[in-house]
Amino acid sequence: MRVFVAGGSGAMGRRLVPQLVARGHQVTATTTSAARLGLVKELGAEGVVMDGLDAASVGEAVAQARPDAIVHQMTALAFAHAGKPNFRHPERFGAKTIRLRAEGMDHLLAAAKATGVSYVVAQSLATWPANRERGLVTEEEPLLAEELPASFRLMWDPLHHSEDVVVKAGGAALRYGAFYGPGGGIEDQIELVRKRRLPIIGGGSGYF
Ligand SMILES: NC(=O)c1ccc[n+]([C@@H]2O[C@H](COP(=O)([O-])OP(=O)(O)OC[C@H]3O[C@@H](n4cnc5c(N)ncnc54)[C@H](OP(=O)(O)O)[C@@H]3O)[C@@H](O)[C@H]2O)c1
Repeated sequence: MRVFVAGGSGAMGRRLVPQLVARGHQVTATTTSAARLGLVKELGAEGVVMDGLDAASVGEAVAQARPDAIVHQMTALAFAHAGKPNFRHPERFGAKTIRLRAEGMDHLLAAAKATGVSYVVAQSLATWPANRERGLVTEEEPLLAEELPASFRLMWDPLHHSEDVVVKAGGAALRYGAFYGPGGGIEDQIELVRKRRLPIIGGGSGYF
């Protein structure tokens, strides 16, 4: 297959692209920076510079690649895109990622439709908010939107939007858990806790 990996130079893309290539797929992978095209080429893909927030840029890149499938792996969580991580202000730190989830997904789906791509896969999260009284909630009995803090909803709503539209378009949303290993960033998260940029709520017994 011809596979288009939007965000092919990132933590996920760098692992996904070589695995697709090893299975005999022809991969086009995107980055926002011409400086990273070499990295994408080393992974075995054809590289293209694309801004996932620009509908024209996405439309052009997808049309040129003529893929059979599209994978959305775009986030702007890395330092180069978001600056210092600060989970006390997810709405600020995650602002561009929030847009990439919602608008980026819409642009990719529009490009898929225009180019006749039948299958789109989106990155999503398995992280699920809990409720103090109910404990962990399920999709059958989800939290009501008003039960979530406003700053959390800013992250949550676009994620659910991207899940909804991709599934409605016949594709799939893959919900990731926390990942670890080289480049997995868990060490970075421990560092954030130490620096009090990832708040430990109350006595530290809270969870989500
Ligand atoms: N441990 C965990 O559970 C966990 C979970 C999530 C994230 N993390 C860590 O957080 C960091 C981020 O990981 P990640 O994979 O989400 O991000 P990433 O490695 O920065 O990859 C994001 C991808 O999206 C692309 N991108 C960024 N802005 C874009 C835009 N406007 N339009 C199109 N593409 C755009 C990037 O391209 P460029 O080449 O331009 O950068 C890159 O290819 C990593 O250090 C990761 O290990 C850890």
